Amino acid sequence: MRRSIIAANWKLNASRSMVDTFMPAVDAQASASGNTDIVICPPYPYLDLVGQKVQASNLHIGGQTMSLEKEGAFTGEVSADMLRDVGCRYVILGHSEQRRYHADSDISIGTKMVTALRAGLTPIVCIGESLQQRKEDKAESTIMRQLGALLALGRWVDLSDLVIAYEPIWAIGTGETASPEQAQAMHAYIRAELTKSRAQLADTVRVLYGGSVNPDNAAKLFAQTDIDGGLIGGASLQADSFNQIITAV
Ligand code: 13P
Repeated sequence: MRRSIIAANWKLNASRSMVDTFMPAVDAQASASGNTDIVICPPYPYLDLVGQKVQASNLHIGGQTMSLEKEGAFTGEVSADMLRDVGCRYVILGHSEQRRYHADSDISIGTKMVTALRAGLTPIVCIGESLQQRKEDKAESTIMRQLGALLALGRWVDLSDLVIAYEPIWAIGTGETASPEQAQAMHAYIRAELTKSRAQLADTVRVLYGGSVNPDNAAKLFAQTDIDGGLIGGASLQADSFNQIITAV
């Protein structure tokens, strides 16, 4: 049985006062939802503050991305070991906004995935097609390419802890969600591709859905067989809506 995950991707949003009000409420909800892993991924400067407010054993912190490099002259970068050092259990990799604005590629993301796993972090690797690719009937081939790079680069590594987040780019921040059927179809496809590569991965890798998840649509999405939880953007910024999403899973 795969444990569900609900992860908050705060993107470029946070303040001390937001953390102060958000964390006690979500920590209490996490304690009441012991069979779900809850992950908060704030901007780097707030990781420590968020971490200090964690009491529930199933509530964790994670980075929103990380460097390919371990240390040295790489201004602005943060390494996997540093994330571990400040208490992170997770790291989001390959978010479409990182792919778009910071030139993350299938190869760099796969390499970061291996680095993260070796550092003891659980990577949440984002994959997903653009609207154009979906319209041109290239959604599956795009996913296959992105997943293929991960599996190829990770071939010597134990990937059982890997988390995949299927985030169709057209559903991110647009209010337009993939329907539960559309999402389930793609999640089943992702699981089938994983199984083709390594049979045991189908039962261990958790596949999250992300893209305009909110308290109204969460339960129907999470009821799908191959959806193991969600990666939440906008609706993760308020404890109220985020807690309702946790309850939905
Ligand atoms: P929204 O939930 O705001 O659509 O963002 C999804 C996302 O990008 C999570 O990583």
